[in-house]
Amino acid sequence: ETKIWRVDPHNFHLGEIQEAALLLRAGKLVAFPTETVYGLGANALDVQAVQGIFRAKGRPSDNPLIVHITGLDELAPLVSDFPPMAQKMAELFWPGPLTIILPASKQVPAEVTAGLSTVAIRMPSHPVARELIRSAKVPVAAPSANRSGKPSPTTADHVRQDLWGRVDGLVDGGECTVGLESTVVDVTGDHPVILRPGGITREMLSMHFEGVEVDGEPGVTKAIAERPSEVTAEHSFPTEEHVPVENRLSVENRLPAEKRLGEANGEAASPANPAPRSPGMKYTHYAPKAPVYLLTGPWKEQVKAITVLLEKETDPLGLLISEETYEHIKELLPQECGSKYLIRLAGSREDLRSVAYRLFGSLRSFDETSVTAIIAESYPREGIGMALMNRLTKAAGGRIWRE
Ligand code: TXA
Ligand code: MG
Repeated sequence: ETKIWRVDPHNFHLGEIQEAALLLRAGKLVAFPTETVYGLGANALDVQAVQGIFRAKGRPSDNPLIVHITGLDELAPLVSDFPPMAQKMAELFWPGPLTIILPASKQVPAEVTAGLSTVAIRMPSHPVARELIRSAKVPVAAPSANRSGKPSPTTADHVRQDLWGRVDGLVDGGECTVGLESTVVDVTGDHPVILRPGGITREMLSMHFEGVEVDGEPGVTKAIAERPSEVTAEHSFPTEEHVPVENRLSVENRLPAEKRLGEANGEAASPANPAPRSPGMKYTHYAPKAPVYLLTGPWKEQVKAITVLLEKETDPLGLLISEETYEHIKELLPQECGSKYLIRLAGSREDLRSVAYRLFGSLRSFDETSVTAIIAESYPREGIGMALMNRLTKAAGGRIWRE
């Protein structure tokens, strides 16, 4: 049985989530909203409670969890050091969508860190998350509240789809405003290294720190720094050279649906992503039931590719495209396209934060349909666009769409 509490994030009383806080304190599992995505929380210092998280999610135990706090005074028992770079970063961006990797104290169970010497710490800004953690009076370990492999949940409904009956409580605080998971930054070296791009962007960090690197994106940082933004904006990853040959599928040359479904839901390490420094990044992520294919290249070429596809393709397809692209192709849609194409508007290319916050909900929404593949538009990897493309590329498992 999952107990559910509905609260208005802008107008709620402590009493409304007191019960949820007590459950957390008592070693139970409670899902709750943060500004990024919903988290599946448990007392981070209670080994059995933490093990419950892995069971409920079906998560591999070598993937460490983020520990959530509400104030810097809660940090001391969790870390063995709080270096100046981390202090400055916390001062600038906490509370907010930023997770900092710090040396772990001995008190943090190995179940939380997956045996690493570091621990991931985040101070969320969402008022419901903050009140819940504060009144639970324990640090809260929380991965995203989805079944492992699925897109992260940005509404309580998504959590319900994945974890109903598998968790003790669910605080429904409405939609998450960022919609992508927090930026994970390693500050244990000389320069900050972004292990997972998110709401706090590379550009935001670079305004305050020297030599910010992005793990797993060789050359990207340098390339963007060296080229004017109009150029890099349209030369977005992935390019074909990065994609294994078997993933370069075309309209004529696609795998049978069953094969593709199997791939999309697998938990195997992705060949597109070898030896990442953040253990979680090697698993298949964000996969809806139908395989996702990414359009690539300059926007105009992407629009052209869709035009060709609309003429040729006979299978029912899902299209995840921007408002601008839709404006270009709407005249071309066949009269009874309702049965053949399912279009989800991703948001506006002029406002990538609007695309980011809708992404996971859009991917999930295709699961209730009979589309055999999802074709998704690509965006410039700048600002929030880097996190957006990181998730889209993972959802696609490296597949790109080619005519
Ligand atoms: O926005 C978020 O970060 C959400 C909300 C609930 O806070 N949480 C979240 O947790 O996305 P999860 O478990 O889905 O992702 C945690 C990521 C994984 O990629 C994991 O590998 C990485 O953080 N991570 C955790 N501890 C780490 C560590 N000590 N060193 C490197 N990476 C770590
Ligand atoms: Mg996750």
